[in-house]
Amino acid sequence: MLSEEQNRTLTQVGAGTPMGELLRRYWMPIAAVAELDDKTTKPLRLLGEDLVLYRDQGGTYGLLDRHCAHRRADLSYGWVEGCGLRCHYHGWVWDHTGKCLQQPFEEVANPEARFKDRVRIKAYPVEAKAGLLWAYMGPPPVPLVPTWEPFTWRNGFVQIVFSEIPCNWFQCQENSIDPVHFEWLHSNWTRVLQGNEGPKPPTHLKIGFDEFEYGFVYRRVLEGQSESNELWTVGRTCLWPNCLFTGGHFEWRVPIDDENMLSVGWFFDRVPNEMEPFTQDRIPYWYSPIDDARTGRWITTHVMNQDFVAWVGQGVLSDRTQEHLGESDRGIIIMRKRMLEQVELVARSGEPKAVIRDPAQNACVRLPIIGREYFVGGYSRADSDERRGRTPGSPPRKDFPFLAGQPEEIRQAFRRAMGLDAERQMPPD
Ligand code: FES
Ligand SMILES: [Fe+2]
Repeated sequence: MLSEEQNRTLTQVGAGTPMGELLRRYWMPIAAVAELDDKTTKPLRLLGEDLVLYRDQGGTYGLLDRHCAHRRADLSYGWVEGCGLRCHYHGWVWDHTGKCLQQPFEEVANPEARFKDRVRIKAYPVEAKAGLLWAYMGPPPVPLVPTWEPFTWRNGFVQIVFSEIPCNWFQCQENSIDPVHFEWLHSNWTRVLQGNEGPKPPTHLKIGFDEFEYGFVYRRVLEGQSESNELWTVGRTCLWPNCLFTGGHFEWRVPIDDENMLSVGWFFDRVPNEMEPFTQDRIPYWYSPIDDARTGRWITTHVMNQDFVAWVGQGVLSDRTQEHLGESDRGIIIMRKRMLEQVELVARSGEPKAVIRDPAQNACVRLPIIGREYFVGGYSRADSDERRGRTPGSPPRKDFPFLAGQPEEIRQAFRRAMGLDAERQMPPD
């Protein structure tokens, strides 16, 4: 059982808190690249700090304090000009490094004073990778944005989905190392929600956990399967420090503040060989709603929505002093232990786990992946039905099962990429 103090350590993310300092050693996905094609600034809150994201006219990304360092106006109402962001209140211009480039009236009234050289605004580096924008809020030297192996794959339809979840990030990340929940929260609950139709899902017979360089692997043996199944031999990944990686998709749990979390999903669907080559000019993104306005209840129809219901149901900050952990929670226990140890390490100025600094190592960071050959080499449409039942997690999908509310144009683009509409027009055999 955790003490109240350990509970606090795991959940507080603000600057200067032990966990806040650990999390600031990692790049966090905060937006889609395509979002800044659609709007010039994006206000956001990250690790308890109010910020504004923008792209200047030279294509450089900036992430600044939301409040102007002059008299604190909201810079998300400013506008981009040249290589900076101009405040809408008195026109001061800031660049992505936090430097003040212009102070219109000061330069008229007292140009010799060069006041602008003596003021700065808080600024954090931003980089684009895999259709996402990433922010780093920690101390220098700045590490590399990880090139996780799926970011190098070709011929896939990628989409990015955001949801804002009103609870603390850490209970969401604990779900990334909880194999047994899948059977209940997803399989059995879905069956109940759908009127108990169809066969009962297989139960878990055995689970296993291993730590590796970039996190933990969790493994399972289900009823009717054996230890030769990739669910046991390869497993799935609880990616350090705040992500779940299943093989075909990532789910980051990005702390907005102590009481809110931004869920960032990155989904890769391999197109059939018949549809190659396939490229995307723009990786689409969308925001998924989590509550149902008609009922005033959470949405329960999609896989990640079911996770969200469990997480918010634990309370805004889950009270871990009231838990009763069992065998199914072994992974959670080892992850908490490692987190608390890494928090200490950073407090002693040590380098925490899974920070990547070597460009050679970062060319492609391999992860455990069930059905890797399928993602890399693809499949022909003819054998896709056979694979559908065989490789867990990697079957060609016709609809998006993870989050509610996918916009119709993205659904259509997905279907075109996968050749699904052509399939429908084919005569039945
Ligand atoms: S408050 Fe931003 S320029 Fe005055
Ligand atoms: Fe889940």
